Amino acid sequence: MANFDVIFIGGGPAGYTGAIRASQLGLNVACVEYRGSLGGTCLNVGCIPSKALLQSSEVFHHAQHKAAEHGVKFSKVEFDVAQMMKRKEGIVSGLTKGIEGLFKKNKVTYVKGKASFINATTISVAKMDGGSEEHTAKSFVISTGSVPIELKAIAPFNGNDIVSSTEALCFEKPPEHLVVIGAGVIGLEMGSVWLRLGSKVSVIEAQDKVLPPMDGAVSAEMKKILEKQGMVFHLATKLVKAEKSGKRVTVHAEKDGKPVTIDCDKVLVAVGRRAYTEGLGLEKVGIIPRKDGKIDTNGHYQTSVPNIYAVGDVIDGPMLAHKADEEGVAVAEILAGKPGHVNYEAIPNVVYTWPEIASVGITEEEAKAKGLAYRVGKIPFMANGRARAFGETDGFVKIIADEKTDRIIGGHIIGPNASELIAELVIGVEFSASSEDIARSSHAHPTLAEVMKEAALAVDKRSLNF
Ligand code: NAI
Repeated sequence: MANFDVIFIGGGPAGYTGAIRASQLGLNVACVEYRGSLGGTCLNVGCIPSKALLQSSEVFHHAQHKAAEHGVKFSKVEFDVAQMMKRKEGIVSGLTKGIEGLFKKNKVTYVKGKASFINATTISVAKMDGGSEEHTAKSFVISTGSVPIELKAIAPFNGNDIVSSTEALCFEKPPEHLVVIGAGVIGLEMGSVWLRLGSKVSVIEAQDKVLPPMDGAVSAEMKKILEKQGMVFHLATKLVKAEKSGKRVTVHAEKDGKPVTIDCDKVLVAVGRRAYTEGLGLEKVGIIPRKDGKIDTNGHYQTSVPNIYAVGDVIDGPMLAHKADEEGVAVAEILAGKPGHVNYEAIPNVVYTWPEIASVGITEEEAKAKGLAYRVGKIPFMANGRARAFGETDGFVKIIADEKTDRIIGGHIIGPNASELIAELVIGVEFSASSEDIARSSHAHPTLAEVMKEAALAVDKRSLNF
């Protein structure tokens, strides 16, 4: 008899959340994790530590560049990277230990070690102390996440000066010149941290815009704002090679057939992440990952082996912690015989630069490409009293609504606290709201959220304060 109903392999947002939900629903659950701490990339080397450093560097930037406008003057503003790192590590360990507490509270068995399939009902777990043990289960959920993509041939990671986001979260001091490969989410967030602490930051991006999948207007605005902050962009530029030259690194790139050469002391390669399934023994159960490393699943997160499921970064869809945890919950509910479901149209996307970017639904470019008839309402934060009081007036809210039904099909925010403001539009999309629904809802005054209402009014060309 199997000793568990379900074993989640991987204790990141997909695995740990799914394990808790499955246990709440009465299943006998284990979660295997080899990192030594729960929470996966997100809590250990991703979302949380990067947000801790973004906040610390923003405090410094604010004291240095913005406080005087409020009449607050400092005779000397200094930063202490060691203290920033200590604070970051404290936040990470508090949260990861918190998940262990949640496992105990919810009666999830935490198995420490690296799991590998022996067959479709048994895994071997290599323990950290060298031994191994076997566990059986009726079902397994692969939630092993993703790792940074390495450009092995042209810019191999060396852990010191050609690095992934993991090391860029731990620099002992700001690099003199940081070259970032990839103007995606990690590139702009980590680039922002070190830029604010005094590094020169140059970004090389293969495509002709920053944050390529984002709405064009948002992407253009972000580039303008980051350039004002001092970030240098080389767009439509292809990396040729990054090579060590003494204690420095020379980055060779190419734009319009012409060479671009940059001397720097650190290179952050942030060109995406790939699904992580190494050592999982998938061949033993007959699951063949795709060329890009992802595992194919059906609408119920079932792989080609009926009792083995997969969720999170190892399957299709955006590599986002909140997408992963929704899938963890959905698969737990399916395993418990309930109708688990994720609405992929209502998954927000956030970039934690300053100002922040947040979006849900489709971009204007996608609406055009699909030939949809739509209307747009766009209002700048400059028109908002609270944004002026904050001294944060960069950016705008843009709402895209179906022309005929007025249903909100896309929402894009670049501006202060965009990460929090987007929740209103996510609920709107989830409940199939029209722009008029937002426009007719009372928004407290004075708040940044009033820009959402004004943008919704602007869809019908009747904004009142712009
Ligand atoms: P990304 O996919 O966001 O951006 C990678 C960028 O690199 C793209 O713009 C791409 O055009 C460019 N690129 C690829 N190859 C290149 C080359 N050889 N030379 C120059 N440019 C090249 O990937 P990123 O930033 O590494 O993030 C990985 C994943 O982590 C993403 O899926 C993201 O969703 C997730 N993430 C999410 C965060 C958030 O929600 N705030 C924060 C950090 C990561």
